[in-house]
Amino acid sequence: MPGWKELLSLDGGRMLQTLREFPEQIERALGLSCRVPNGVQGFKNAVVLGMGGSAIAGDLLARFATVPVTTVRDYVLPPWVNADTLLIAISYSGETEETLQAFREGLRRTKRAVALTTGGALAALCEEQEIPWVPVPPGLPPRAALAFLLFPILGCFARLGCLRENPSRVPAALRPLRDACLPEHNENPAQALAQALCGQIPVVYGAGITAPVAYRWKTQINENAKQPAYWMELPELCHNEIVGYELAGKLFPQGVVIFLRTAFDHPRVAKRVEILKEVLTARGLAFQEVWGQGEDALAQALWLVHLGDWVSFYLALLNGVDPTPVRPIQELKRRLKEP
Ligand code: F6R
Repeated sequence: MPGWKELLSLDGGRMLQTLREFPEQIERALGLSCRVPNGVQGFKNAVVLGMGGSAIAGDLLARFATVPVTTVRDYVLPPWVNADTLLIAISYSGETEETLQAFREGLRRTKRAVALTTGGALAALCEEQEIPWVPVPPGLPPRAALAFLLFPILGCFARLGCLRENPSRVPAALRPLRDACLPEHNENPAQALAQALCGQIPVVYGAGITAPVAYRWKTQINENAKQPAYWMELPELCHNEIVGYELAGKLFPQGVVIFLRTAFDHPRVAKRVEILKEVLTARGLAFQEVWGQGEDALAQALWLVHLGDWVSFYLALLNGVDPTPVRPIQELKRRLKEP
């Protein structure tokens, strides 16, 4: 098998470069939070409108905001969205039709709104309706721009007293992980995990703050490594998915469960994980456990996001594919534009 050095030549889209810069991107992105004016304050709830790599920012925000935040991945808004709602439209390209349509509808119900985008139709709509928008640096795959799609809003919520953590602590928590995951680093945790997952079907489990992180792992493995991956959250999976273990040993021998853990797991969730490990072992199913690091819950969640991004990157190389292109997504978007 070729070594990592040779495999890195598959990274035609230079995903490695953006992974390397993630902690510094977060610092730059926090600097952009001043582009969200204080005029939006006074909202009672917020909806994040977005899809895919842009929408995950809403899921993460929702776990740390002290006001209700809902992510809408759809053309239509929930009926409760009104003048007390802050609309946050996130679209890296600014061209995502679901996001644009929901944003247009939302602007008829509330004047509190902001967008994060590189430009496109979303920026044009904001200019036309005099809505503030945060300019996101262009030239990245949307999923690799997470720092710029999430941290300007986290910074704004922190400033307005609507966030339960300090986002400026995150870069320091991520730097040691970034350094350990660089290709030149021996005893590399991301390479080791990617090797353990190669040829397997990852099933990523999270709970509470790590539920959106588990979903991010799943989607990053799909898009970067071009392979199936699944996710689910505790405690809900203990009420349904667990029954599927009965035949999983026979029907799903390649399944590997990955438990995402933090020091902030609910004690009853922690107990459930221990029992689940025993159930999985008894059924002959493999599992891995990964613990987030950092001094607070936000840092630990982002630590796990960053590790998952690296794991999906190395898994792509082991699968012999360039992590960056997402041809099926582009093909679908192109076909939707056909008359
Ligand atoms: C991620 C990716 C997709 C897009 C999604 C929405 O890299 O390519 O998940 O994020 O199709 O597009 P944007 O983010 O441009 O609104």
